[in-house]
Amino acid sequence: MEKILITGGAGFIGSHVVRRFVEKYPNIQIFNLDSLTYAGNLENLSDVSDMENYTFLKGDITDEDYVNRIFKEQLFDGVIHLAAESHVDRSISDPLSFLKANIFGTVNLLNAAKEIWKSDFDGKLFYHISTDEVYGSLGESGLFTEETSYDPKSPYSASKASSDHFVRAYHNTYGLPIVISNCSNNYGPNQFPEKLIPLCINNIKLKKPLPIYGKGENIRDWLFVEDHARAIDEIFHKGKVGRTYNIGGLNEWTNIDLVKYLCQIMDEKLGRNSGESEKLITYVKDRAGHDLRYAIDASRINDELNWKPSLKFEEGLSKTVDWYLENQDWIDAITSGEYQNYYAKQYKS
Ligand code: NAD
Ligand code: DAU
Repeated sequence: MEKILITGGAGFIGSHVVRRFVEKYPNIQIFNLDSLTYAGNLENLSDVSDMENYTFLKGDITDEDYVNRIFKEQLFDGVIHLAAESHVDRSISDPLSFLKANIFGTVNLLNAAKEIWKSDFDGKLFYHISTDEVYGSLGESGLFTEETSYDPKSPYSASKASSDHFVRAYHNTYGLPIVISNCSNNYGPNQFPEKLIPLCINNIKLKKPLPIYGKGENIRDWLFVEDHARAIDEIFHKGKVGRTYNIGGLNEWTNIDLVKYLCQIMDEKLGRNSGESEKLITYVKDRAGHDLRYAIDASRINDELNWKPSLKFEEGLSKTVDWYLENQDWIDAITSGEYQNYYAKQYKS
């Protein structure tokens, strides 16, 4: 039976990727390696955790001995690497933990894969999941293509850029079969409420202030998480070895327009008066080094793999809000304890 290691499978995007693979490929054994940081939550996978082709491995990708041991024991055929520290604001206050998880952790996995596959790379694949933030920040026009030069601006994006360089270096130097994708902002169920959309959904529900950094004019290109998981499936199975694929939502919004739209949807769903939630919008100190705009040219993945986003943003956002409103226990468990400390420190409340 083919064996695939998915790292970071208890996190937001990872859990959607694990679910898709476990359900769609009963003949592939899926191993989910996750250290369960604050962002990892096995509840995200409660519906598939009993499936026969699913195994959870609790471990840290920065633990060299552990990583080498599981690769030797399981002889994985492929790796889909998502585990990372993923929140830009946390990278500004604690860059070293991003360096450790995102760079050192990735190199550990590359070494382990190289070691067990070295006699025959044929049919093996190390798929590294990365971000559009490695390209830096766009002005008012233009799109990131796979040829755009790297220009990371935050400790998070610098750590992801470095990990991308290591992955390409292992392909160039040792011939390791790799593929990389760089995706734009994801949204959807199971996203940790430190990120803009779930944070605002939770705050609107609780009638708490909606913190908008700076003037709210920064632009992001939003993609529904299940569309990202589908792109990852296509790239893993049909992508060209050594190649990079950009994945994007073709869906640019300024933060302020997005949050106003979210307020409107939630006023309707919660039976509030129109305009009520918008009053919660509060402009706060800007993020240090805040990238102005991200937007992806996804024509390569569209042309080569026939992938494009399937869900309209209006539909995806409505589904996302419904999920958060229907999963009160999930959000309560996550926002108790440590989250309160993080929130108070980040927003000085
Ligand atoms: P997330 O923070 O929700 O989840 C990360 C997961 O990795 C968690 O389950 C966590 O426990 C695990 N993890 C972290 N450090 C680990 C370590 N040292 N060892 C083992 N497990 C560890 O992140 P996400 O938003 O799901 O992002 C997943 C990947 O996709 C990341 O590599 C991120 O850079 C990339 N990405 C995210 C987005 C986005 O919009 N969220 C967009 C493009 C790319
Ligand atoms: O582009 C892909 C990236 O998207 C991923 O690589 C990252 O892992 C992911 O976190 C995301 O990064 P962003 O920084 O764009 O996402 P975030 O949800 O943190 O912020 C989105 C925008 O909203 C950004 O311009 C900052 C702003 N913002 C964010 C928060 C948390 C606010 O105005 N207020 C907030 O409270």
